[in-house]
Amino acid sequence: MTVKVLKVKGTLLIPPDAKGIGRAARIIRRGGLVAFPTETVYGLGAAATCEEAVSGIFAAKGRPADNPLIVHVSSLDQVRQLAVDIPSTAFRLMDRFWPGPLSLVLTRSPEVTDAVSAGLPTVALRMPAHPVALGLIRAAAIPIAAPSANRSSRPSPTTACHVLEDLAGRIDAVIDGGSCAIGVESTVLDLTGLRPVILRPGGVSREELESLIGPVETARLKNDTAPLSPGMKYRHYAPLAPLILITGTPRRRAALIRSLTSAYRKRGMNVGLLSSPHQRKRGKNEIARMLYSALRRMDSRGVDIILAEGITTRGIGEALMNRLQKAALRVIKT
Ligand code: TXA
Ligand code: MG
Repeated sequence: MTVKVLKVKGTLLIPPDAKGIGRAARIIRRGGLVAFPTETVYGLGAAATCEEAVSGIFAAKGRPADNPLIVHVSSLDQVRQLAVDIPSTAFRLMDRFWPGPLSLVLTRSPEVTDAVSAGLPTVALRMPAHPVALGLIRAAAIPIAAPSANRSSRPSPTTACHVLEDLAGRIDAVIDGGSCAIGVESTVLDLTGLRPVILRPGGVSREELESLIGPVETARLKNDTAPLSPGMKYRHYAPLAPLILITGTPRRRAALIRSLTSAYRKRGMNVGLLSSPHQRKRGKNEIARMLYSALRRMDSRGVDIILAEGITTRGIGEALMNRLQKAALRVIKT
């Protein structure tokens, strides 16, 4: 049997088996760009130790150079290679939540390139809980810098197909590992200050963190101060159509969505709904898994306006509301 290697606009589509992972690792070691699945979203990987390869990530995504990257590791040795003055809290968190959707911001070592950290004195590290991602880091035998594998400001990719939509022809390869199990990005937790601060809510919830290490603060973006996490200041995860987020009590939300839907339809507009009695019955984990692909589907179906219903911020709900707020052009509190 001959296996045909698929290429889309020059970007290789690689199967997630040992041979495919080996091939992808060689591309990374040569300074290339490979997108790969993780349990959260697909990442766009490059050798974290190679300044040129890392610059390639920024160019492929169209990412502002002042937004640092998360470095993905497969061992504690790599953590010690990349960070210094690591607090004991960090090791407790790694012990409980790694591999998993938690990125820890630590003081960087001289081995971390400026491009990765965008000139900050810190580095964000994460050990992903996905056999293909871990296999790739091990096979490459170097830490892999990887932001989400989307064009900047587009919804994050949760399938290889999403990656190709955004980046075919701009990157060397993507490993097709199917759909991501969690569907929203990792929690980014800053451990370099007096108290732990959540810079971005994500796959590990505040409740889970606090049950292990006590109270954690949340970074808020104020206009008058430099953001702690540069990524906070950009509009993110945005579909092409304007998104209106509707919060308040379930009854009021539903009533406003009904009346807005009929008003927009009367004007001949194609309305996309991220809300329905059916969806409300779904668990939050299921909503997380489908959120980004639903936003992308709205674009491909030529929706003119999206109405999204808010949800409670318990558990992964905090990450979901954060993403919806960032995608929203307007938030209406009923
Ligand atoms: O789940 C995830 O975290 C995915 C997968 C691929 O691992 N990655 C991801 O990367 O979402 P990205 O680049 O899309 O988001 C990284 C976020 C940005 O908001 C960035 O500003 C922040 O982490 N970040 C990275 N390094 C940082 C640092 N040293 N200090 C503060 N924030 C940092
Ligand atoms: Mg991203």
